[in-house]
Amino acid sequence: MKKTQFFPRSLVFGILLFASLLLAGGFTWKEEWFLQPANFPAPVYNSKANPVTDAGFKLGKKLFYDPILSADYTISCGSCHIQAAAFSHHGHDLSHGIHDLLGTRNAPGLQNLAWYSRYMWDGGITNLDLQPIAPITNPVEMGDTLSAVIRKLNADPQYPGLFEKAFGTNRISTDLVMKALSQFMICLVSADSKYDKVMRKEGVVFTADETAGYQVYRQNCASCHPEPLFTNQQFRSTGLPVLEEGDEGRYLVSLDSSERFTFRVPSLRNLKFTFPYMHDGRFYTIDEVLDHYATGISHTTRPDPSFILPDGSPGIRFSPDQRKTLKAFLLTLNDTAFVKNPLYDEAGSQLYIK
Ligand code: HEC
Ligand code: HEC
Repeated sequence: MKKTQFFPRSLVFGILLFASLLLAGGFTWKEEWFLQPANFPAPVYNSKANPVTDAGFKLGKKLFYDPILSADYTISCGSCHIQAAAFSHHGHDLSHGIHDLLGTRNAPGLQNLAWYSRYMWDGGITNLDLQPIAPITNPVEMGDTLSAVIRKLNADPQYPGLFEKAFGTNRISTDLVMKALSQFMICLVSADSKYDKVMRKEGVVFTADETAGYQVYRQNCASCHPEPLFTNQQFRSTGLPVLEEGDEGRYLVSLDSSERFTFRVPSLRNLKFTFPYMHDGRFYTIDEVLDHYATGISHTTRPDPSFILPDGSPGIRFSPDQRKTLKAFLLTLNDTAFVKNPLYDEAGSQLYIK
């Protein structure tokens, strides 16, 4: 018996035709394609309550890049969170918003947010779906009100139809705006650095310097910046000397005086793109950050006890060789594919998710 009798040609054609019809109709996106890199734990974000769909992701992306969310149509989320800078505010120590007003903090990169349970430098926001309210209504960021934003979106020629597609209703509400933005933001997954490929054994290995630097990192940095997110999301003080503004960090949210001058530990991923560093963007290079850890830690801002050496002085002592190899390791955390991924860029809004 010939095989073709089991698989008549017409059936094969039928299957092909069906598959191409499915493709032409657009993908229904399976979130696990993006959300679960093999070397990451399960995400924290509850995507059952807000499943990512192709239409929702695209709507979220359009909103993210649309200055309609600001009072005078000049500032979008993407103005301060620039993809080429791993969604940080490239080159700005403090971020500029509407009317060129200056904020008080450095815009962090946006990456792997689905694994975070605390947002902002002070952890003041614990639900990603509520996060965008802060910049939209902040007078020095987008300077708008939620009711005005909802009014503008409902009056727009395009948005009601796009919400209909994404959520089955053309009545735009704050809740749905937040859900769409979250769908875009949780897909900003950075898990394709050299480090990730080494960990997933994708045929890439560390150089001798990187391997040595990995050990320096594990001894000195991993307690606060653990793999694979490179942050434990806790609040710590690195003993940064107070500048004139004197940001008290987590204390502003908790009013617990033991948390004065502590900030949420940032990730070490994509440092190549996210300078300047620290909550106020005071350091422009990794060397400046390492100089701070080595000799700059000040007792005045109550550095974390782990920085205090046996003789009572604060600091992490590196030999020149340890410092060189640590830097080599940190460079393996840069994910060029992430900052160039056309899925996330403004111009690529028409792309299908594949
Ligand atoms: C004017 C610049 C500016 C604009 C516009 C802006 N942001 Fe931000 N963003 C910041 C700064 C600064 C922070 C850190 C604030 C803090 O910690 O107090 C931040 C923090 C965040 C965080 C938390 C990231 C983390 O790791 O905790 C998210 C998420 C975020 N922004 C999303 C958005 C979205 C969505 C929009 C548009 C609705 C937006 N941002 C508009 C400057 C901006
Ligand atoms: C006790 C906890 C702790 C340890 C240990 C620690 N860090 Fe940090 N790190 C932090 C905190 C907290 C911040 C943010 C400080 C701020 O902005 O006020 C930070 C910030 C950074 C930044 C800036 C990142 C950014 O996006 O702004 C870099 C780079 C960094 N640390 C690297 C390291 C390295 C390398 C080591 C090991 C040599 C290390 N850290 C050890 C807690 C720690």
